Amino acid sequence: MPLVSGVDVINECTSRGLVAGAFNTTNIETTMGIVAAIERTGVPTFIQVAPTNVALSGYEYIYDMVSRRLADTAVPVALHLDHGKSLESVEAALAADFTSIMIDASEEPYDENLRISAIAREMTPESLALEAELGSIGGKEDDHGPEEELSTDPAQVPDFVAAVRPDMLAVSVGNVHGYAPDARIDFDLLAQVRDASTAPLVIHGGSGLPTEQLGRLAEFNVVKVNVASDLRNAMIRTFGEAYVANPNEVSLIRVSKDAVAAITDVVERRILMLNPHVS
Ligand code: 13P
Repeated sequence: MPLVSGVDVINECTSRGLVAGAFNTTNIETTMGIVAAIERTGVPTFIQVAPTNVALSGYEYIYDMVSRRLADTAVPVALHLDHGKSLESVEAALAADFTSIMIDASEEPYDENLRISAIAREMTPESLALEAELGSIGGKEDDHGPEEELSTDPAQVPDFVAAVRPDMLAVSVGNVHGYAPDARIDFDLLAQVRDASTAPLVIHGGSGLPTEQLGRLAEFNVVKVNVASDLRNAMIRTFGEAYVANPNEVSLIRVSKDAVAAITDVVERRILMLNPHVS
């Protein structure tokens, strides 16, 4: 089916009690791996790319690749701009027909974050989803950061959500970007943020979080969980192992297919960790 709006993915997940994974792509192997896992599980999903990873190809190229691969897929999928750090990146993703947008002005002081995020809301049609971030998520995401971690303040949530009207709110509650095996969600804080927010929540930094934490997120009105490092590492590891096994290896197609299979496994496992009742 054609790409759907992020609003449709949110609504379908909310009505079915599901949590959508949001998996970062960069290239054709990653896209193929993600979509194969989506087809296996049937769970509505976001495929996303941050401006730092668009540097290899361009927004239109990512749109063409993802939408072409999804044309004969029955599961609803939205194409999402991850960490749009500027209004220019929001504009570029909208021009390339992305169906879901993140504005991330979370490193700015509160008033400036609110002002920039509200402009992004005006730019993003109501039929498309907008994600904004309140509190700053630590760790290193692509070429950004490392960002200073600043937990989301539940007291700021009601006004921010009322002023920006995001379809989903990214929060900093112990989650960390990148390889962070010790990162843990503070569920007490997450519960306070949930109770303060009329918008469903987004957790970034899904790679480092343990299975039992991922499986509880639906109770906290979390609708989207971002995962990038795990699948990137699966691809790089596959190529590294192929080279170590045979430094004269030249079958790019064989190793690429192995990388797709490795990514599919990682993504499928993450989707099932987020949705333990789906088999
Ligand atoms: P991880 O790389 O830790 O999975 O985080 C990805 C992310 O949050 C993308 O926005």
